[in-house]
Amino acid sequence: MQYGSFPATRLRRLRRHDWSRRLVAETRLSPADLIWPIFVSEGAKRREPVASMPGVDRLSVDLLESAVVEAVELGVPAIALFPATPNDLKTPGAEEAWNPDNLVCRAIREVKAKLGDAVGVLADVALDPYSSHGQDGLVIDGYVANDETLDALGKQTLVQAEAGCDVIAPSDMMDGRVGYLRHVLDGAGFDHVSIMAYAAKYASAYYGPFRDAVGSAGSLGTGDKKTYQMDPANGDEALREVALDLAEGADMVMVKPGQPYLDIVTRVKQTFAAPTFAYQVSGEYAQIAAAAQLGWLDRDAVMMESLMAFKRAGADGVLTYFAVEAAKQLRGR
Ligand code: PBG
Repeated sequence: MQYGSFPATRLRRLRRHDWSRRLVAETRLSPADLIWPIFVSEGAKRREPVASMPGVDRLSVDLLESAVVEAVELGVPAIALFPATPNDLKTPGAEEAWNPDNLVCRAIREVKAKLGDAVGVLADVALDPYSSHGQDGLVIDGYVANDETLDALGKQTLVQAEAGCDVIAPSDMMDGRVGYLRHVLDGAGFDHVSIMAYAAKYASAYYGPFRDAVGSAGSLGTGDKKTYQMDPANGDEALREVALDLAEGADMVMVKPGQPYLDIVTRVKQTFAAPTFAYQVSGEYAQIAAAAQLGWLDRDAVMMESLMAFKRAGADGVLTYFAVEAAKQLRGR
């Protein structure tokens, strides 16, 4: 039987017009899906470009207000603050991490004083911005010691909660840290502070530009983080990490890096149905920004396509250095 012309099903029909493409789009990206990571540095009125991340600057604390106001006005709900700690404050024991007047605590207080609940503030928990060896934990006999590190992370968590951060984001990958930090927070009256666990965090070469930005690359030298961050070969193990972090009290979980690990994002979301985030890390940003500088990729188009892919894979939101730029695109500005 032949009615009309072959073929009957033409998937191109709905792709023909902008209105029909918009009508049948399965995934939407909105500024509310974005978390903006910001690098903070010492000094005043200082905006220093990060060489390996064209378009990203380190901001001194006094410049945060106007930057964050712009993001909030565009509809970005949250920021993540990362300190570039001066080298002379870095020690083997990373004591600066629990100095209540350290750079990140001053940054948190500044943003909260100026913007209050108009923005959510995330603060990382890990010792690498403060340790002279660049590792995320305490090194004992050449090994990053798990349980001794937890105590340090607890002290770091408390000063950040006291400074007013809304979300503690442990990125250290020690075993048991989410449960321990939940216990520490609740014990100090911070039961309202939530935890976004870097649950499936891989030992990745894509963090290179970040380590330049916060100045931990030199400290780490030829060292790596393979004894605590995950092996890129593993997927099932990521589900076990997420299961543990949720059981220990994580409110939200994260997969990091993002685009090379979209399969993990999908599996995590489908398995746990928990708030799931992906971190489009510094190296992913640098790839796009560098190719765009050379004229080899269209920066805006690849940025939007890469962010949409996270949503399609199942992420509820994305930590991205493109947050402000992407929100502007989405708002047509
Ligand atoms: C610190 C931390 C890192 C990143 C976020 N938190 C670096 C690392 O683990 O070495 C990387 C973020 C990025 O590359 O954009 N533990």
